[in-house]
Amino acid sequence: MKEYLKVNKKAYDCAAEEYSQKDLFGGNNYLFYQPWVDMIFSKYDLTKRHAALELGAGTGQFLKILSDNRFKTTTIEFSSKMVEYIKKTSPHTLIIKKNIIDVILKNDEYDLIVAMAFLHCFDEEDLKTILNKVGKWLKGDGYFAICTTLHNITEEGYFEKQDYQREIFRYRKKWNKNDFERILDNAGFVIVDEFFHSEITKPKAWVSYLVKKNKVLENPLIPWHNLNIKLGIIYQVFLI
Ligand SMILES: C[S@@+](CC[C@H](N)C(=O)[O-])C[C@H]1O[C@@H](n2cnc3c(N)ncnc32)[C@H](O)[C@@H]1O
Repeated sequence: MKEYLKVNKKAYDCAAEEYSQKDLFGGNNYLFYQPWVDMIFSKYDLTKRHAALELGAGTGQFLKILSDNRFKTTTIEFSSKMVEYIKKTSPHTLIIKKNIIDVILKNDEYDLIVAMAFLHCFDEEDLKTILNKVGKWLKGDGYFAICTTLHNITEEGYFEKQDYQREIFRYRKKWNKNDFERILDNAGFVIVDEFFHSEITKPKAWVSYLVKKNKVLENPLIPWHNLNIKLGIIYQVFLI
């Protein structure tokens, strides 16, 4: 495991108890998560059972909402302390207690993959690896729901977690919106929906995306890369 991931694993173990005590709108998870519920659930027929995977589910608050709405839930979470909370919050969830970088799952398995406050926990190399995995694990018509914080410039480093009683430093990347969207685009995702929100207690701005796999890049019947080469050749011939 890379050094920064070892630091983060310890940091999230330390933060787990305070995470579990976060007062989500007076204990009402549905109110706190309402914007995501609205964005995500409108895309699914909730009378059917869908397979959802949450990456880095923390204490499992959103998993519980998915599970309450007939989703068959799985999570990848490497913090042992967080896992203890998930077991209580969302007892029907299948938990893969591993570093996501080491996880191999079946292709085309999930209707929904969720990454809340997760993708910015990785350096760019690992983020690309994760997006590549998500592209494989997600079904062709599946959705990938993401939220991350908004920043003027892209930077990375060890930052202290704000609003925690103990001093907790962990690695994180702060993404500029355009840079983040370019990474998604390069990984073969298209944005279908997005919304912004800010935290009441902290000066933190968030952006959430619902993305899909880019069908054009996916479809082997449309050899775009070859097409580009062919167009290039035709152009060259015209020039001659
Ligand atoms: C910032 S917290 C977000 C938790 C939750 N998604 C939320 O929105 O409240 C990031 C979570 O991802 C987990 N995590 C970070 N890096 C991971 C990795 N490499 N593999 C698996 N889980 C990881 C952490 O343990 C932590 O629970």
